[in-house]
Amino acid sequence: MIRLNFTTSFDEIYTQMICCANPPAGLRAMDEVEAAKQSAGIAACDFVTSGMDVGLGTGSTVKHTVIELGRRMAEEGLEIRGVPTSIETEKLARSLGIPILEWDQVGRLAVTIDGADEFDSNFHLIKGGGGALTREKIVAQVSDSMVVVTDPRKDVPTLGDFPLPVEVIHFGWEVTSRHLQEICPGPAIRRGGSEPLITDNGNFIIDCSFGPTITDPIALESEIRNIAGVVEVGLFTNMADAVVIGSDAGTEVRIKPDGRLS
Ligand code: 5RP
Repeated sequence: MIRLNFTTSFDEIYTQMICCANPPAGLRAMDEVEAAKQSAGIAACDFVTSGMDVGLGTGSTVKHTVIELGRRMAEEGLEIRGVPTSIETEKLARSLGIPILEWDQVGRLAVTIDGADEFDSNFHLIKGGGGALTREKIVAQVSDSMVVVTDPRKDVPTLGDFPLPVEVIHFGWEVTSRHLQEICPGPAIRRGGSEPLITDNGNFIIDCSFGPTITDPIALESEIRNIAGVVEVGLFTNMADAVVIGSDAGTEVRIKPDGRLS
């Protein structure tokens, strides 16, 4: 069984589904992957300045961003407040002394920094490998910009190789899952099987194996969100403004040409 939590989800799925078959050149060893994540996570902190309220994403890449923000606060006088996208990230941020905003204190956030499972050349994303997609989308939507921290494995021509996570409520989940299966060419499977993963919101995740077929992610996002029982889908369209790609060869920052950071 694939064990899924936010620190390992992409790596485990990737290793099982793709990497063993076709490891990309330049990023073969997991310590190189970890170094890539760290360099992306740290480089993204350059989008943060004192006084900002910042959305703090979830995952093993953005974890490095949170740690670096905590370091800059402690050592360099950076002053920010954070809005975490998961219980796990909240715990990490609090442990580092990053002040956490309550939702009734949130106006707009200057920036959200978060990971992704895939991104395409239009800056559309698949997210939710760690099961935090709903909170991640809420936080991203209240932000004036979104910066994504990644590594080169996640740069795809067409979204869908990574199974698309969909958060659904318990009530009638079998039927909701069937509706998803009707539109998904591959399996649509409840994450965790007989020991289902429960999200921070108390829901299930259905992973939908579209394969690299998602040529119109905007339409698919809307179609899936229209299914009763669906809380949120891990397609993030027209949300990301920049992608920071760490690799063993250095860090690349791509800014969306017509985005909010261009
Ligand atoms: C969690 C997410 C993560 O940001 C995404 O899965 C990427 O995680 P990682 O940086 O660990 O590969 O969407 O719900």
